[in-house]
Amino acid sequence: MFDRRTFLRTAAAISLSVSAFALAASGAAAADPIVIRFSHVVAPDTPKGKGADKFKELAEKYTNGGVKIEVYPNSQLYKDKEELEALQLGAVQMLAPSLAKFGPLGLKEFEVFDLPYIFSGYDSLHKVTYGPVGKSLLDKLGSKGIQGLAFWDNGFKIMSANSPLKTPDDFLGLKMRIQSSKVLEAEMNALGAVPQVMAFSEVYQALQTGVVDGTENPPSNMYTQKMHEVQKHATLSNHGYLGYAVIVNKKFWDELPADVRGNLEKAMTEATEYANGIAKEENEKALEAMKAAGTTEFHELTADELAAWHKALLPVHDEMADRIGADLIKQVQQEAGVAN
Ligand code: LMR
Repeated sequence: MFDRRTFLRTAAAISLSVSAFALAASGAAAADPIVIRFSHVVAPDTPKGKGADKFKELAEKYTNGGVKIEVYPNSQLYKDKEELEALQLGAVQMLAPSLAKFGPLGLKEFEVFDLPYIFSGYDSLHKVTYGPVGKSLLDKLGSKGIQGLAFWDNGFKIMSANSPLKTPDDFLGLKMRIQSSKVLEAEMNALGAVPQVMAFSEVYQALQTGVVDGTENPPSNMYTQKMHEVQKHATLSNHGYLGYAVIVNKKFWDELPADVRGNLEKAMTEATEYANGIAKEENEKALEAMKAAGTTEFHELTADELAAWHKALLPVHDEMADRIGADLIKQVQQEAGVAN
């Protein structure tokens, strides 16, 4: 006869062997896909968001489903600083942080991309990101347990606030949200503003509640975060660049089977072409959409105003030479064809 204790023991034994059987029957251990968690902080409908989704599509196709890419947009999993820690700890495998966010890891050289007016446009930027300087920057990530895979474009930044920003004087005393880059801090200080480092996911609310007065971002980020709804003025200053390095946890990457890694590299090359092919147009479309929304007045700088911005901001290159490296700044200036 079964007493209650025997019954429970028997039930536990049956349930154990059923799970063992199910595991063996499905061949679970062998057939489970390799999962790559790709976390990012922007909306899916941005150059980075679309690049991540394209990589997912291609990576899953080229590995015949052997790899599953889980994309987590909009800081769903982690905010700016935490996502880099999560990558190093292996809690996520892939990210594409903005180049302005590598300084706190000790990779100050990446801040060269933040220097005001260092690129005259996408062509001059690509000479750096697709050239030897770009490669040597990605190589530096290895010392932090990170493998750099590619540079993805976003675009050139505009400045926004609730008051017009025509000349540097207009910035005096304004609290401006920045990413965690010392170059951006120096840039805002050079304009007489008060820089405030803040995670991207917090910017909309900070603008809405007046915790900060204004910010800078490419139109695609401004639009998809609805910042235009809480910023009355914006200046099409294109004073600096914002783009990304796509990175993976190095140990995870190195331990992948070589054929899988090869297929993922192929997917990344094509996703990079795609992302960098759409970035300019995505930003143009976002700007048009914000103009159509009519909540923000957009200002184009006159030649005199632009000269005043140059005068205020170009000294940041020299000021940051000790931090970033004078040689690197010169190299980028020469490769980008902008000699300041
Ligand atoms: C920001 O924090 O403003 C941007 O880096 C967000 C992003 O990833 O584009």
